[in-house]
Amino acid sequence: MPWDMVRAVPGIRRSPVEFLTDTTRRYGDVVAFPLPRTPVLLLNDPAGVRHVLVEAHRSYGRATLQYSALATVTGAGLLTSDGEAWRRHRRTVQPAFHHSSLAGVAEESVAAAERLRQRASRLGPGEPLEVLEATSRASLEVVGHTLAAADLSGVAQDLVDAVGRALELVVGRAQNPVPNSWPTPSRRRLEREVAAIDRICAQIVAARRAQGVAEDADDVVGLMLRAGLEDAEVRDELVTFVVAGHETVASSLTWTLDLLARHPHVQQRLHEELTAVLATPDGPRAPGWDDLTALPYTRAVLEESLRLYPPAWVITRTAIADDVVAGVAVPAGTLVIVCTWALHRHPDLWEAPEEFRPERFLDAPRRDVGYVPFGAGPRLCIGRDLAVVESALVLATFLRDRRVRPAPGARPAVESLVTLRPKGGLRLLVEPLRP
Ligand code: HEM
Repeated sequence: MPWDMVRAVPGIRRSPVEFLTDTTRRYGDVVAFPLPRTPVLLLNDPAGVRHVLVEAHRSYGRATLQYSALATVTGAGLLTSDGEAWRRHRRTVQPAFHHSSLAGVAEESVAAAERLRQRASRLGPGEPLEVLEATSRASLEVVGHTLAAADLSGVAQDLVDAVGRALELVVGRAQNPVPNSWPTPSRRRLEREVAAIDRICAQIVAARRAQGVAEDADDVVGLMLRAGLEDAEVRDELVTFVVAGHETVASSLTWTLDLLARHPHVQQRLHEELTAVLATPDGPRAPGWDDLTALPYTRAVLEESLRLYPPAWVITRTAIADDVVAGVAVPAGTLVIVCTWALHRHPDLWEAPEEFRPERFLDAPRRDVGYVPFGAGPRLCIGRDLAVVESALVLATFLRDRRVRPAPGARPAVESLVTLRPKGGLRLLVEPLRP
């Protein structure tokens, strides 16, 4: 009822994931919000979610509040565009994500995790690791190679910082009743950040051009230059990939390390697997591409972590044609919200849904209903396999002879911005496995 909505406003601002999850628990799997003008439907029905993302995907588009706000920063990239423009770009960059490129990703991931180990070794006794900062740096190093066949860590850090500041302003503005077109200080700051993003992207593209684009180039920027895309289109995809491919992996690795620190028996089982696969007379060696199939528990840990802490915590669509979902009429123009956090904790789908139990992903058939950390259907995350390879190898490299423990102090709250992040960062103690 409208009055419930008014009362809910502080809760929505404090924690959108909690608000959406509580709402599904209270009102069921299909909830209509009584908002004026736009009909809004919160969908937590597993078959209904599959219907919207997969079976009836043609009836749903990206013109939603979430994606329009994101487009202020990313422009018309893969995340925010629809139709022919989306199809052309997706086809152009797809080869960067083929199976044949993943062995290279594996190498970059191990190298990035080795640098992370070195930085962790320099911590003083009792000094905690700033986990989000560390995983962000590692994931940026890996994504730089996929994007532009180069170590972008110098310029890319400036790009990531500018994108991060711009997105914070966008989220802040979305929560503010002042119209976005007004010349407020936050609008001017946003314009300055977007101009800085444009300058850095132009620099990256010019450097990639100067390097020469070979016939068989398979990095994202190289592929786009070869296909003759305009510089503005390349800029939009570059920013899109920084948003989609960097913070998501960092978020997933951060929550995984947090879960392992809080569940020593799971961490111990992970160590048993790593020791069995990586043991040499001189201690555990670094893992590689060929080891991935021998690390099922490591992958189950990551899958279970993506269930409980899905970095892409909300997926939205706008109905572009009348439809029926889970028996409910959905008129064209309806905003459909899928909260992956709520869906992944659906009590009808999971035994003890709040518990961290990686075993549930071992030997179980791959789920295609009710588990969508990477989305589903034609808009399935293009970086899914890359993210899986990268996360498993960063985790295995980092933890092969060390363990993480909670640092003293309160656990950070979950902050749901573009991805799920620990508010104020996460600190963990890193110790040798065998002192
Ligand atoms: C754990 C890591 C990741 C998670 C949880 C994740 C999650 C998602 C989800 C849920 C979507 C679909 C959104 C929707 O349907 O509205 C998506 C799309 C996308 N992701 Fe990922 N992602 C991850 C890593 C990556 C990586 C590593 C890259 C690239 C380097 C990437 C690039 C993209 C792109 C470009 C799209 C838009 C695809 C399209 O619509 O054609 N993601 N991701």
